Amino acid sequence: MFENYPKANLAFLPTPLEKIERFSSEVGDINIYMKRDDNTGLAMGGNKARKLEFLMGDAKSKGADTILTTGGPQSNHARMTAAAARRLGMEPILVLKGREPAVRQGNLLLDDLLGADVRFVDTKDYGEIHGKMGKIASQLESRGRKPYIIPLGGSTPLGALGYVEAFLEIMNQADEMGINVDYIVNAVGSGGTHAGLLVGAYLSGKDVEIVGISVDAEKGVFQNDIARIATECSRLLNNDREFKPEDIIVFDEYVGEGYGIVNNETVEAITLMARTEGIILGPVYTGKAMSGLIDLIKKGYFKQGSNVVFIHTGGTPALFDKLVK
Ligand SMILES: Cc1ncc(COP(=O)(O)O)c(C=O)c1O
Repeated sequence: MFENYPKANLAFLPTPLEKIERFSSEVGDINIYMKRDDNTGLAMGGNKARKLEFLMGDAKSKGADTILTTGGPQSNHARMTAAAARRLGMEPILVLKGREPAVRQGNLLLDDLLGADVRFVDTKDYGEIHGKMGKIASQLESRGRKPYIIPLGGSTPLGALGYVEAFLEIMNQADEMGINVDYIVNAVGSGGTHAGLLVGAYLSGKDVEIVGISVDAEKGVFQNDIARIATECSRLLNNDREFKPEDIIVFDEYVGEGYGIVNNETVEAITLMARTEGIILGPVYTGKAMSGLIDLIKKGYFKQGSNVVFIHTGGTPALFDKLVK
């Protein structure tokens, strides 16, 4: 299915799919399974490893020697892109949004260990940062270098192929376990993960509802983005299905005060998961998304007795910035 797209071998796959029984019985009458994409490897794991297999495969096939990307100061995507670049012998440049923090911890500490060229742009606008990355790339080209830009979150149609593949992987594992998956729940930050899962469900004809929990923008923004990425992603696989924004399920009531601002519900979800399963969630994405999943279960959103796969998309290094006491 993916043979037209060169892949870089970067992730430990398949990641485990495990039932989290103790946690499930604490929160309601459904069976929660956790897809452990926090174990993909690549400098402490996370969902971006799957996208990066395709994105860095493309970069490599184009002869790139320098990779540029962006994110917030605690970007997991930026950290994993820097690691991927190092694995492939390339130079990482991270153009991060916001002010340079006084202390470099969590993901930023890892960026430094990876020797990334980290630059800060004090703006609220990723459009401005993408423009800046374009300028840096032109300067590099004029010096004979071969830069390759990966947009925010790696959420391009090509990157989303990683989660088409993940969907198929989950279905294989569910078959082996003898279960039917009713829902897949994921944290939405730039939409590529959700888009890839949708395309996977569509192409394999499986009746699995993909539920996104926003940790950032309001749902309309993500419904548009995800529909566009999914439509273009399915075109890459020679399919002309048009995904419509109104068909994309995203909840935006769990963002709280904003992106990266940890609230009590998030801390409670992280703590409950740690104490029932010994599994550590992240503060920005998976902890917040899990607080949403818990609330949706309480509100009766999921059919009683149904099987829900929550994707642990990683992000644990940010704990050592956001939850430092
Ligand atoms: C840990 C983690 N989980 C989830 C996401 C969201 O994935 P996506 O950007 O594909 O929506 C991200 C990145 O944005 C992330 O770093």
